[in-house]
Amino acid sequence: MVHIASRSPPRVTRAARGHAMLLRASLIVLLLLLWPRPSAGKKKLYIGALFPMSGGWPGGQACMPSAQMALDLVNNRSDILPDYELELIHYDSMCDPGEATKLLYDLLYTEPIKIVLMPGCSGVSTLVAEAARMWNLIVLTIQPPVSSPSLFRIAITATLHNPTRVQLSRRCKDCGALYETEARKVFCEVFKEKLYGKKYVWFLIGWYADNWFKIKDPAINCTVENMTEAVEGHVTTEIVMLNPETVRGVSNMTSQEFIAALMSRLGGKNPEETGGFQEAPLAYDAVWALALALNKTVAPLKAKGRRLEDFNYNNHDITSEIYRALNTSSFEGVSGQVVFDAQGSRMAMTLIEQLQGGSYKKIGYYDSSQKNLSWFGNDVWIGASMPHFLTLSAVALTTTSAQLFF
Ligand SMILES: *[C@@H]1O[C@H](CO)[C@@H](O)[C@H](O)[C@H]1NC(C)=O
Ligand SMILES: *[C@@H]1O[C@H](CO)[C@@H](O)[C@H](O)[C@H]1NC(C)=O
Ligand SMILES: *[C@@H]1O[C@H](CO)[C@@H](O)[C@H](O)[C@H]1NC(C)=O
Ligand SMILES: *[C@@H]1O[C@H](CO)[C@@H](O)[C@H](O)[C@H]1NC(C)=O
Ligand SMILES: *[C@@H]1O[C@H](CO)[C@@H](O)[C@H](O)[C@H]1NC(C)=O
Ligand SMILES: *[C@@H]1O[C@H](CO)[C@@H](O)[C@H](O)[C@H]1NC(C)=O
Ligand SMILES: *[C@@H]1O[C@H](CO)[C@@H](O)[C@H](O)[C@H]1NC(C)=O
Repeated sequence: MVHIASRSPPRVTRAARGHAMLLRASLIVLLLLLWPRPSAGKKKLYIGALFPMSGGWPGGQACMPSAQMALDLVNNRSDILPDYELELIHYDSMCDPGEATKLLYDLLYTEPIKIVLMPGCSGVSTLVAEAARMWNLIVLTIQPPVSSPSLFRIAITATLHNPTRVQLSRRCKDCGALYETEARKVFCEVFKEKLYGKKYVWFLIGWYADNWFKIKDPAINCTVENMTEAVEGHVTTEIVMLNPETVRGVSNMTSQEFIAALMSRLGGKNPEETGGFQEAPLAYDAVWALALALNKTVAPLKAKGRRLEDFNYNNHDITSEIYRALNTSSFEGVSGQVVFDAQGSRMAMTLIEQLQGGSYKKIGYYDSSQKNLSWFGNDVWIGASMPHFLTLSAVALTTTSAQLFF
């Protein structure tokens, strides 16, 4: 299977990634600021992290070291927050809302005041977002499309004059395996109703094992041959979490170097068995986004006679300054260009793949921040050529991006 991490040593299966992503509702960076007791030299700003080290999505296993790595680099830079030192304070939410509630209160009620990083599991992020509002805190969301509840978005005929749309929504919040079961059911129906072939292009959002349609499933009575026929040519999209380009971003690290450095921090642990490995670039870039935003607030705050260390939970003007700085983030991270849209969502690159002859092939990338579609030209369409493909892709991508980047 080709996938985004294919140039780097660790290979994580689609299924493993899907699992992790589906189980975690979002990555929320909750931002509190506090000052520091007086200490010699640099003033400390604390980041409190609720990284789950166990539970449904033990994403902290890789995201924590990744965030720590970013902090070490930031703290060593003389051109970022030279008067401050960022420090991580970590609690294990165990991916459990009850536990997270308790820890959140600990974070909020005990000194020192923190900047909280929180990759939440379902339920946990909602909780934190609610609390953040009450505590005058900024919530920075770097959120892959996992919270998308809909499995199948759209099927479009290639006939422009009569664009039939078949919308099959499946609400499913549990796990990737369930998504796959649902997908098999739907495609068995697709097979029976003959909703495939040259008139239809299926567009799937989600993460599946490479052979999800070949797995024997008592819930359906289509044969593997029938399924293979129905799914051929469908298109899938997924968020790219590791920059496919070899560029030195703001941290002077390419995504490949980042992976190597992370592996070394993990001390030889198998990435496939390390929770959150796939999402680790997001945690790293989240810390950079935060550090750069804080750095950006120093001058405007100074002009107002304020300092970062003057922040408190009732202090609105510092919060809005940080908020503004985050909103205008724009830098090259290890996960790609870091830019937020008008809703505060991370705009990301999407990898587009097509099932060709039973296996997934990369056919393009869509960069929503640049609105740039790079098409490899290796897409294959059953029967006739795809005279309406551009229209189709535009429609499909619009639908996708609305879905993905919210
Ligand atoms: C910190 O920066 C100095 C030079 O500015 C460099 O020599 C040192 O290796 C850096 N340390 C880390 C941990 O990056
Ligand atoms: C941090 O802010 C200062 C101005 O306050 C600016 O000169 C510097 O370039 C910023 N650092 C980065 C990495 O953007
Ligand atoms: C699948 O099962 C349904 C009813 O359970 C039956 O009507 C249909 O003929 C079966 N299809 C195949 C391909 O076996
Ligand atoms: C489904 O596949 C089986 C072989 O596995 C084949 O005999 C059957 O004709 C197929 N059904 C249809 C409707 O093509
Ligand atoms: C960036 O990293 C490269 C390779 O490690 C190094 O040669 C270069 O000096 C670094 N640049 C900066 C500005 O640190
Ligand atoms: C960011 O700033 C833009 C332009 O000022 C504004 O339209 C947008 O709503 C802001 N984003 C958020 C999340 O507030
Ligand atoms: C779009 O992406 C391609 C390939 O990455 C690049 O060569 C091109 O310059 C980009 N175009 C724009 C307008 O950003």
